Parts: sequence; structure tokens; C-alpha cells
Amino acid sequence: MLPSEPKIFHGRESELSEMLELFVQGTPRVAILGAGGMGKTSLARAILHHAEITPRYKQHRYFVAYDPATTKVELAALIGSYLGLKPGKDLTRSVVQRFSKDPPALLILDNLETVWEPIVSRREVEDFLSLLTDVKHLALIITMRGAERPAQVNWTRPFLRPLKPLEQSAARQTFIDIADSYHDPAQVDKVLSLTDNMPLAVNLIANLVDSEGCSNIQPGSLYFIVPVKSQDQSCPSLRGFVEPLVNAS
Ligand SMILES: Nc1ncnc2c1ncn2[C@@H]1O[C@H](COP(=O)(O)OP(=O)(O)OP(=O)(O)O)[C@@H](O)[C@H]1O
Ligand SMILES: [Mg+2]
Repeated sequence: MLPSEPKIFHGRESELSEMLELFVQGTPRVAILGAGGMGKTSLARAILHHAEITPRYKQHRYFVAYDPATTKVELAALIGSYLGLKPGKDLTRSVVQRFSKDPPALLILDNLETVWEPIVSRREVEDFLSLLTDVKHLALIITMRGAERPAQVNWTRPFLRPLKPLEQSAARQTFIDIADSYHDPAQVDKVLSLTDNMPLAVNLIANLVDSEGCSNIQPGSLYFIVPVKSQDQSCPSLRGFVEPLVNAS
């Protein structure tokens, strides 16, 4: 079953229109990159359900979440299960053949870093992606933490730049959707400044305000546990949240 359309989704207009334009021009292969919690999966879900995409791919839209896969064979098995293929030793070829025979499809591989990051499996995964993108009518979107695209794929140009934090207006609107609109706007901006407008942090803090109120949120008392991986160290918002944890220990 496909994941739902994101219900609270603000900003990202330029990324959405850049991606839709690539679909107008042909069959795109796009990597949505960015730090953990920056909104990669949400953007992919927004594309998946966009009014310009749904009628084009109909039931041939696949959203494969990668958490359980750690090797190319597991990856192929996972995609195979979404396609309804019979389990087998290595489904790489069957998956590629199936996409070749099927009508144009959109394949979204979410959190691909899970299987791409380990150096031991990287080469095989890239070879598999290369085979998949040999299928001319298969549109491919991956989401992956960091700023590096897998090799062996002709990613469609212009490349989508790694996602940045939300604009202030989008962060405010997200906050209001979660915590309601009765809070003092100056207090809201103060609280939002603690998040660097990183979507995950904005969501967390808005939920916190909803239960605790704005004035009870103090920078020194915030201890968000966020998914941190090596590439994320360059993200100031994550550093901001991790440091209090480090300082507290
Ligand atoms: N444009 C947006 N507007 C409002 N909320 C958003 C937006 N993008 C993401 N969010 C919220 O931020 C949180 C993190 O988003 P998401 O899971 O898409 O990030 P991610 O980059 O895929 O994270 P990860 O690296 O962990 O996979 C979610 O709660 C999501 O609902
Ligand atoms: Mg994600």
C-alpha cells in the first residue's frame, strides 16, 4: 500500500515545481538529498500523490521503504515483494524484467542510505540502480541522507539541490497547524529560532508547545533526540540539538 499524502506540508514550492518540470520533460531520475529530518520522504510523498503524477502512473506507483534492507539481494527482494514477484534467491533480474514489460512506472526508494552507505554493498547497489535506469520508461526517485548521489546513474539534470531548512513562513504555518494559532507570534518566532526551521525539529517543538505552552520552552531545557549520521554533522540545526545532550552528559 502507498503511504499517504503528507497532511501538514508547507514550503518546498520550488523543489516541487523543479521535480514536476522534470516529469514534463521525460522520465526523471532524481535523488532527494539532505540531512536527517529535513523532509526528504515528505517531498517524495507529495510527488507520489501530486495531481500531475497520479493520473500518469496510476497503480504503477511504487514506494519502497528501505529500513529492513542491507544488501542488494535484500533490496531486490523488497522491490520484488512490492511487485508481487515470487520470492527467490536473487530477484535482481526479475525485477528489472518486470519493469521493462510493465507500462511506465514510478519507483520511489525511500531511505536508500540504509543499503547504500555500507561500503561493502555500495557497488552492488549502484549496479542494480544502473540496471533499473536502463529501463527507459521507469521514473526513479530516491531519498537519501547526505549530499552525495549514488554513482552509475544518469541523474536527470539540473540536479535537485539537497533540501534546506524551511522558509520562515512555512515553518510558522507548520507550527500553527500543529499547535494552533492563538500563540503570541513573537513567542512563536522565538521558539522557532531554536529549530533552525528544520522540519522535524519544527514538528517536535510545535507538539511540545501544544502540550507545555510557549513560555515553558527554554533553550537549555530542550533535549531532542534526532537521528544523527556522519553526514549530518554539517547541519547546524542538528548540532544545536545534539550539543545540549552532549553538555548534559
Ligand atoms: N514541508 C514540510 N512541512 C511541514 N512538515 C514537514 C515538511 N517536511 C517534513 N515535515 C515533517 O518533518 C518530519 C520529518 O520529515 P521526513 O520524514 O520527510 O524527513 P526525512 O528527511 O525523510 O527524514 P529521514 O532522514 O529521517 O528519513 C515529519 O514529521 C514530517 O511530517
Ligand atoms: Mg525519510
